[in-house]
Amino acid sequence: MQGVLFDLDGVITDTAKFHFKAWSRLAQEKLAVTLPASFESDLKGISRIDSMNRILKFAGLETKYSAEEVNTMAQFKNELYLNEISKLTQKDILPGIENLLDQLAANKIKLSVASASKNAPFILEKLGLKDQFDAIADPAKVAHGKPAPDIFLEAARKIAVEPSQCVGIEDAKAGVEAIKAAGAIAVGVGSSTDLNEADTVVANTGELTYSILEQAFGKK
Ligand code: G6P
Ligand code: MG
Repeated sequence: MQGVLFDLDGVITDTAKFHFKAWSRLAQEKLAVTLPASFESDLKGISRIDSMNRILKFAGLETKYSAEEVNTMAQFKNELYLNEISKLTQKDILPGIENLLDQLAANKIKLSVASASKNAPFILEKLGLKDQFDAIADPAKVAHGKPAPDIFLEAARKIAVEPSQCVGIEDAKAGVEAIKAAGAIAVGVGSSTDLNEADTVVANTGELTYSILEQAFGKK
């Protein structure tokens, strides 16, 4: 293992609740619908515009708005979301992650972020973690969102490590599929039923250690 490719939302910090709060308010105010709780996990790993389109479909309004109107709504959601994540601090880093980053750095493993979020650099800065990573892949630069492999390929390219020499860490089904499609080893965080395509699954981030990742890598 020469590189580790990190998803951000749900792996480094728990932002799913903030995404869901912002999407719910948008759905209520602009579309007059209430999102079911299942949307919180259904939208994990799904890009902003793809999430917006799924919500419009749920509301039965997928043909009502122009592309420009859809973009304006997605922007409104992002403003609500930014307001929430501007309050993040080091205390919001998920358990075990700081330790894991230290262990990986001590073992000279290159670290890259492979998040679908355009807010990833801002979030990492708020958490005080930006300098711990060697690279952050820019989702605006890739053609296809997760489950396509693009963002993981870009994250590996930016640290100059072959994807086959990398372990990817994900909490979303679409993300695990993306890691596998990129040709890297997938470690899932969450339910082993949902993430059954991962090479190894841990129940929570507190279980992520250098040796767990090395073991997962050794399975290939
Ligand atoms: C992550 C989250 C998704 C979110 C996406 C885009 O993958 O899990 O819920 O929609 O990032 O985030 P952004 O911050 O760019 O709107
Ligand atoms: Mg995630």
